Amino acid sequence: MRLSERLESMEESATLLMAQLARDRKAAGKDVISLSLGEPDFDTPESIKEAAWRALQDGHTKYTPVPGIPALREAIAEKFRTENKLPYRAENIVVSNGAKQCIANVCLSLINPGDEVILLAPYWVSYVEIVRLAGGVPVELSAGVETDYKVTAEQLADAITDKTRLIIFSSPCNPTGSVFTEQELRAIAGVVLEDPDLMILSDEIYEYINFHRDYFSIGAVEGMEKRTITVNGFSKGFAMTGWRLGYMGAPDWLAAACAKVQGQFTSGANSFSQQAAVFALENSKKEVGEMREVFRKRKDLVVSGLSQIPGLKVNDPMGAFYVFPEAVDLVGKSYNGRILNSVDDFCMLLLEEKGVAVVPGAAFGAPNCFRISYAASEEELSRALDLMGDLVNSLD
Ligand SMILES: Cc1ncc(COP(=O)(O)O)c(C=O)c1O
Repeated sequence: MRLSERLESMEESATLLMAQLARDRKAAGKDVISLSLGEPDFDTPESIKEAAWRALQDGHTKYTPVPGIPALREAIAEKFRTENKLPYRAENIVVSNGAKQCIANVCLSLINPGDEVILLAPYWVSYVEIVRLAGGVPVELSAGVETDYKVTAEQLADAITDKTRLIIFSSPCNPTGSVFTEQELRAIAGVVLEDPDLMILSDEIYEYINFHRDYFSIGAVEGMEKRTITVNGFSKGFAMTGWRLGYMGAPDWLAAACAKVQGQFTSGANSFSQQAAVFALENSKKEVGEMREVFRKRKDLVVSGLSQIPGLKVNDPMGAFYVFPEAVDLVGKSYNGRILNSVDDFCMLLLEEKGVAVVPGAAFGAPNCFRISYAASEEELSRALDLMGDLVNSLD
């Protein structure tokens, strides 16, 4: 028996791999602080859970319309119009089993074999594999810590070829936490608008974990509503990862195509999650804001701790719950005679010697860096920073 070529060439998720190593260590009775997962450590706000419970009691237990229940599509369109200045109506909205499925629907709907998809690196791990599954060719454009990990419009313009079909980026970004400003996004939009066949997918799943006062969506630039797919969801901002609910806004023709794909793969998203999501969008901004403030405090703690560790370079991330230090200066150093040949080696050493799990940057298209998730308590974060500092200071 054999697997398909499509599957043989697919990479395992590095984030999940690191989380598994951390769990194995814990199961063996060893101490572990896991800073590897992309998931808020908060529980879903109680009132949202109650809304789901009410929905179950009211009998919302059946299949749902493929693109989402009308009340949720309306509520999302309203959110996009008022908060993001995106002119979407319910027909432009597709609700899916997580933002991940929205991205897969878009790639399967837009990409032909051989089409190029530009990924702004560092990027979220799954983009590469989803693009490949759809037959596309991922093209990475990179930016480093010195430019806040943000690719410029000029870099983008230089990378576009007649095969480029789609650009994908996230802001706030996983793994860097960087947030593009309105000015930067307007410059990028200018490049997209010059090419009539080009679309851009703006992954805004961390929108509500944003320490900038304002948030700007690239689809709000004049003319970009026809060229943008805006992806968002409930997993991060509302601490609802397990509910599996994401959504996108896109031009009518593409929204209809995505619903067609989803209709064959999974049908409509969970019935009572969708009912609770209507409640969340309309009633839970206070809890969302409280969680954001906790994240902001932790971010300050982590950035200040990391800046005191020699050999690590950090930016000041304005969103999400990640910090992405550059650690290339540690490569070539050694620990008890063991030479570090890569930042990956440093991450393994950190887990083995100090019990701190982080994710190596290679999977995010940035092998000189590693990702710390600060979805953990301040106490755990302080301990992890001390342990990391001890390890780095003991390198020869
Ligand atoms: C940038 C980014 N986009 C999308 C997702 C997927 O979110 P969901 O849980 O809604 O599928 C994640 C989750 O880690 C993410 O970090």
